[in-house]
Amino acid sequence: MLLGAQWGDEGKGKATDLLGGSVDYVVRYQGGNNAGHTVVVGDQKYALHLLPSGILSPGCTPVIGNGVVVDPSVLLSELSGLNERGVDTSKLLLSGNAHIITPYNVTVDKVTERFLGKRKIGTTGRGIGPTYADKINRVGIRVQDLYDESILTQKVEAALDVKNQILTKLYNRRAIAVDQVVEELLDYADKLAPYVADTVLVINQALEEDKVVLFEGGQGTLLDIDHGTYPFVTSSNPTAGGACTGAGVGPTKISRVIGILKAYTTRVGAGPFPTELFDEDGEALRRIGGERGVTTGRDRRCGWFDAVIARYATRVNGLTDFFLTKLDVLTGWEQIPVCVAYEIDGKRVEELPYSQTDFHHAKPVYEMLPGWSEDISKAKSFSDLPKNAQSYVKALEEMSGAPISAIGVGPGRDETIQINSFL
Ligand code: IMP
Repeated sequence: MLLGAQWGDEGKGKATDLLGGSVDYVVRYQGGNNAGHTVVVGDQKYALHLLPSGILSPGCTPVIGNGVVVDPSVLLSELSGLNERGVDTSKLLLSGNAHIITPYNVTVDKVTERFLGKRKIGTTGRGIGPTYADKINRVGIRVQDLYDESILTQKVEAALDVKNQILTKLYNRRAIAVDQVVEELLDYADKLAPYVADTVLVINQALEEDKVVLFEGGQGTLLDIDHGTYPFVTSSNPTAGGACTGAGVGPTKISRVIGILKAYTTRVGAGPFPTELFDEDGEALRRIGGERGVTTGRDRRCGWFDAVIARYATRVNGLTDFFLTKLDVLTGWEQIPVCVAYEIDGKRVEELPYSQTDFHHAKPVYEMLPGWSEDISKAKSFSDLPKNAQSYVKALEEMSGAPISAIGVGPGRDETIQINSFL
C-alpha cells in the first residue's frame, strides 16, 4: 500500500507509477477528484485526479474501489483525455458500490464554504464532503443505482427533499429539480457500464492468486477524517485502515505500507501547520518545488520537514517503509532546519498532541542539518549523493521511525534512488 505521510501532495503519483510495471492491480480506496497526481512519463506529463496512476502502465488493471466517490463527468473526461493521447483505458474497473458525486453535492460544497466565510475549510469544491455526508446519512447514490431508473428517482428525491429546503431557505439558492438530476445521471449509465464490476471479489481473487495489488491512498495522513487535523481534513480515511473498508480487503492481506514523505512539508487549504514559512525560504520552496495544486491550481503553503508528523504517520499507518520525495528541491541551502519536537505552552512535546488546541499552539523546535550545493538529480544510488544529503536522509529516517527505501531526486520517472525493493 502507498499513502501520503503528510498533508497530501507528497508525490504519490510518481511512486505508484514507479511500481506500476511490477504490479497487477492499482486500487484507489477513498477520496475522489479532490486528489491530484502528476505523473511524468518520458517527455509526457499527465495530471490525474480520479483515475489510479496505474492507468498509465499497460500491464496493470486500475480499480476504483467502493470507498471512492466518483463524479461521472470527471471520470469520463479523464478517460477520453487519456484515450486522445493514445492511452488504453479499457481495463479500468469501477465498483458498483462506489458513491456518485451528484451535481447537487458539488453545489452544496461550494455554497457551504461560502456560508462558512472565515471559518471555511478551503475544500477543493468538488463535492467530496457532501457526498460522503450523504453516504453516512444513507441518502447517497451509488454507481449501481444508475441501472435502476425507479430506484434512482426515489433516491434522488429522498436526497433532494432536505437539500432543497436548505438550499432555498438557508442559502437563498434555487431548488434543484429531481428530473433534471435523474436525466443527467442516467445519461452516464451506458458510458460507465463497461467498467462496472464487483471489485471486492476481483481484488480478493487476485490476492488469492498471489497477484501484486497496490492500494493507492489519495490526500494524506493528516487530512484523514479520524486521524488528521480535524476539521481541516478531507471526509474520508486515507490512512492505511481505509484500504480495508474502501476496497474490501482484510487487514491480514496487506504486507507492506509505504508512506510517501516529502523532504519538506506542504499543505493546501486551511488549518494548523507548525513549520509553515512566511519568508523567502517558503517562497523558494514553493518556486523550486513547483508547489501549486494539481487539482485546484492554488499555491501550496510550504515549510520545513516535520519529524513529529512523520513519526505520527508511521504509528497510525503501521508504515513499513518511506519513499522520500523531492530531495533535490533542498539543494542549495547552507543549513536545513528540521523540526524534531514542538514547544507547546512552554513545554517540549515529542509526539503529535491529540488536542487540537495544543496543535494550534505548537511551535517547532528545530535542529539545523548541514546542506549541500551539488546537483543530485543524476544520482542513481545512495552513495552517489553528497555526504550532507546522505546525512540528511539518515537523520530523517532515524527521527521518522521507518526505513527510507527510495528517494526522489527529480520529477522524471527514472530520477529515483531505490534502496530497498518495495515488493
Ligand atoms: P475536500 O477534500 O475537497 O473536502 O477538502 C478538504 C481539505 O483537504 C482541504 O484543505 C483541501 O485542500 C484538502 N485536500 C483535498 N484533497 C487534497 C489533495 O489531494 N492534496 C492536498 N490537499 C487536499
